Amino acid sequence: MDLNLNLLFLVAALSLPFLLLVGRARRCRGTPPLLPPGSLGLPLLGETLRLVAAYKSEDPEPFVDERLMRYGTVFMTHVFGEATVFSADPETNRFVLQNEGKLFECSYPDSIANLLGRHSLLLTKGAMHKRMHSLTMSFANSSILKDRLLADIDRLIRLNMDSWHDKIFLMEEAKKITFELTMKQLMSVEPGEWTESIRKEYVLVIEGFFTLPIPFFSSTYRRAIRARTKVAEALGAVVRERRKEVEARNDMLGSLLTATAGDDGHGLSDDEVVDFMVALLVAGYETTSTIMTLAVKFLTESPSALSQLKEEHEKIRARKDWNHGLEWTDYKSMPFTQCVINETLRVANIIAGVFRRTTTDVNIKGYTIPKGWKVFTSFRAVHLDPLHFEDARTFDPWRWQRDTVTTTTALANVFMPFGGGPRLCPGYELARVIISVFLHHFVTSFSWVPAENDKLIFFPTTRMQKRYPIYVTRRNDATRDVAEGDEW
Ligand code: HEM
Ligand SMILES: *[C@@H]1O[C@H](CO)[C@@H](O)[C@H](O)[C@H]1NC(C)=O
Ligand SMILES: *[C@@H]1O[C@H](CO)[C@@H](O)[C@H](O)[C@H]1NC(C)=O
Repeated sequence: MDLNLNLLFLVAALSLPFLLLVGRARRCRGTPPLLPPGSLGLPLLGETLRLVAAYKSEDPEPFVDERLMRYGTVFMTHVFGEATVFSADPETNRFVLQNEGKLFECSYPDSIANLLGRHSLLLTKGAMHKRMHSLTMSFANSSILKDRLLADIDRLIRLNMDSWHDKIFLMEEAKKITFELTMKQLMSVEPGEWTESIRKEYVLVIEGFFTLPIPFFSSTYRRAIRARTKVAEALGAVVRERRKEVEARNDMLGSLLTATAGDDGHGLSDDEVVDFMVALLVAGYETTSTIMTLAVKFLTESPSALSQLKEEHEKIRARKDWNHGLEWTDYKSMPFTQCVINETLRVANIIAGVFRRTTTDVNIKGYTIPKGWKVFTSFRAVHLDPLHFEDARTFDPWRWQRDTVTTTTALANVFMPFGGGPRLCPGYELARVIISVFLHHFVTSFSWVPAENDKLIFFPTTRMQKRYPIYVTRRNDATRDVAEGDEW
């Protein structure tokens, strides 16, 4: 799914470069197709080591910039064990995403597939994928968010923030919030010991995605698989219980249990339901919580943006009784917050791009990409390209208020934090609502200062190296004091 994962499992493929290089060499016997320009780098490791070194630094851009200068926006490289076509070209990226399931498809190594589960949305294809993707979309669409999810999002975020004092690791807290929200929305479970015990196992599963370089011999990987089994058992028990209930409940699991899928319109098996839920937890967890954390980091470093954001939220707060949660109209009156979120998504690029594999020889921009090759559509390279965004590498939320956010083509072509085409992130609006509500309560309830110097790194995932430790102080806000200890 995301580069988070993609980068990782491609790293997992490091164990295979030998075989793959042999395979490539043989291809040259016929008339070679006109491949995009580029260098395959050192034998064996290709350009992987250089890429990893770049992404471990605070400024990974030169790795891509150099190649863009030399070869143009579509070039060939050799990373993570395979020759890969790298695209920083908006039209090419769009073409690849739109042709998902036709000329391209996503593909994951076995080590990742085993952790995700065979039936996860990320791995299903064809009719089943279409059906399950639209089911997920309709579960998190704006009317559901407005009528059902928003109230829980508001309540659980406040509940979590109530225990914050002194030093907190913002990334940890954000993860806890997102996990609890997902459990609640998936299967109506309130946070408690049970959800926390599953989250602990979950952390181990996620670590499994990062095991390098030979997953099947790694104890971290074996532990991840065991943890995955435990998570699946726990969720499976919930599924079996729920099947016994007469009345369908109004949550994601409720829709899954009544859904039909596949060509013959059969219902979903317990395994299918569990895999689906596990993958949803994976997809929403790191992504949303990282953006929550990074929005705060960028705001901390941009006092004028922070004060404008505070003003927006204090205005909303002023017209509300504290005991009353945020409503849809409140969410809809946060225009500057949406600028901050877009700008965080653009600059931070937690999902730097996605990998696809060609299902046939594909002609792009005068080149031929042979069947079976990997293509990486880089959102990051486009988002940070000065050709498309003025002063592209600066956090500037106000750019979203200007008439022309982008200097070239339509915004939808150059801004794709949630991907596009048939695999467009079904959680895009849910994520926006969660981040907005989080920012609302955070800036109206607390002031904060960083507790240590921390830095943003990009490998193996985009994140703050020390999980962004901060000191929080509750703001001396009369409405807030009254609310303390109150029930909502
Ligand atoms: C800021 C937060 C998020 C970002 C930046 C993000 C980004 C993305 C991107 C770029 C993709 C496309 C992957 C591909 O094309 O291979 C994707 C897929 C997906 N996302 Fe998100 N996502 C976020 C939050 C969420 C949330 C909260 C959920 C929970 C519902 C979610 C569920 C999914 C799922 C299930 C897929 C797979 C879709 C498919 O393969 O059909 N995401 N996400
Ligand atoms: C959202 O999904 C529900 C089904 O879950 C559907 O009834 C409704 O029409 C959808 N709303 C929008 C705005 O797409
Ligand atoms: C933020 O980006 C989305 C595209 O993902 C766009 O539709 C929306 O208009 C942008 N918001 C602002 C405030 O520009």
